[in-house]
Amino acid sequence: MSKRNQTLGEFIIENQTSFKYTSGELSRLLNSIRLAAKVVNHEVNKAGLVDIIGAAGDTNIQGEDQQKLDVYANEKFIQTLTKRNIVCGIASEEEDDFITINSQDENHQNKYVVLIDPLDGSSNIDVNVSVGTIFSVYRRVTPLGTPVSLEDFLQKGSAQVAAGYVVYGTSTMLVYTTGDGVNGFTLNPAIGSYYLSHPNMQFPEDGNIYSVNEGNYLDFPLGIKKYIKYCQEDEGERPYTSRYIGSLVSDFHRNMIKGGIYMYPKSSKNPKGKLRLLYECNPMAFIAEQANGKASDGYTRIMDIEPTELHERVPFICGSKNMVEKAEEFMRNN
Ligand code: AHG
Ligand code: MN
Ligand code: MN
Repeated sequence: MSKRNQTLGEFIIENQTSFKYTSGELSRLLNSIRLAAKVVNHEVNKAGLVDIIGAAGDTNIQGEDQQKLDVYANEKFIQTLTKRNIVCGIASEEEDDFITINSQDENHQNKYVVLIDPLDGSSNIDVNVSVGTIFSVYRRVTPLGTPVSLEDFLQKGSAQVAAGYVVYGTSTMLVYTTGDGVNGFTLNPAIGSYYLSHPNMQFPEDGNIYSVNEGNYLDFPLGIKKYIKYCQEDEGERPYTSRYIGSLVSDFHRNMIKGGIYMYPKSSKNPKGKLRLLYECNPMAFIAEQANGKASDGYTRIMDIEPTELHERVPFICGSKNMVEKAEEFMRNN
C-alpha cells in the first residue's frame, strides 16, 4: 500500500514484487535514474548563475570546460547507468547511435535497455523556465549473453516496462509508471529525498487547456486547424484556455493535473512532426494511458507505431481522453 510521505526508495522496494520482472534489476535501474536526476537538478538550479560561474564553452575555476546542460545531463545519466552496471544498452536523443554496455564480469547479463531525452525543453534553460528529463525502459529482445542490437531499441511503445519523467520546476518531481498506475514524487532539496506527493495520478477525462505552438498554425493540417478553432469557440465549456510552455514535460505535467491536450502536429518545417517517437512520445504515451489519458498521432495509437529508426519523429497528440478523441475526429473528417 502506497502512503503519502513515503520516500521513493521505500516505494520502489515495497512495489518491487508487483513488477512483472522481479529480479530487482528494474528497482536498481529506477534508483540510478533518481540519483542522476538529483545531480542534474543541482546543475539546473545553478543555471541562473551562469554569468558568475561561466557559460557553456568557458573554462571554470577548476580548469574544467563548462558544458551545455543537455550535454551535461546526457553524460550524467549515461555515467550513472553504465557505472552501476545495470542496463545492457542506452539510446539517447543526444547520441547518434545507441550505446552498448559490455560488463566484463557479467558478460551481457543485464536485461534492460534505457532510452532517454536527458534534457527536454532545453531552449527554456536560459530563461529560468522549467525543463525535464524523459526516460523509457524495455526488456531486451535479443538473447542474454550477446551485445545489444538495434532491434532491442526499436520496440513498439506497448512493450515498455517502465517510463517516467523528471520535471525541474518550481519543485523537482519524478513521475513514473511500471504499468500499474502513475505516481509522482517531489524532491525535498534540504534532505535530498523524493516523497510520494501525487499517488495514482489521473488525467481528468475532459479538460479546458490546449497546448500547441500556434506560431506554426498556418502550416498545420486542416484537421488540427479546425480543432484549434473548435477549442476557441464560445460554446458550452468553451472557449478553452491556451497554455504552452514549450517544454513537453512541463506542458504534459500541468495537463495531467488540470485536464488538457498537448499537440505537436506536422508542419512544413517539421513534415513528420518534431517530437521523437522513442525518447519523447512513447514514454509520455505510456504514462498518459496509465493515467487514464490517451496519445495518438492523429490516427494511430502512439504505442502501436512500429519504429523504424532511433531518432524517428511523429506527430503527437496527448492528454485527456475526450479531448484527444475530439482532435482525432477532426483529423479523420478533414
Ligand atoms: P528538446 O529540448 O529535448 O529538443 O525538446 C523540445 C521539444 C519539446 O519539449 C517541446 O514541447 C517542443 O520541442 C517545443 O518546440 P517548439 O519550440 O517548436 O514549440
Ligand atoms: Mn525533448
Ligand atoms: Mn532534449
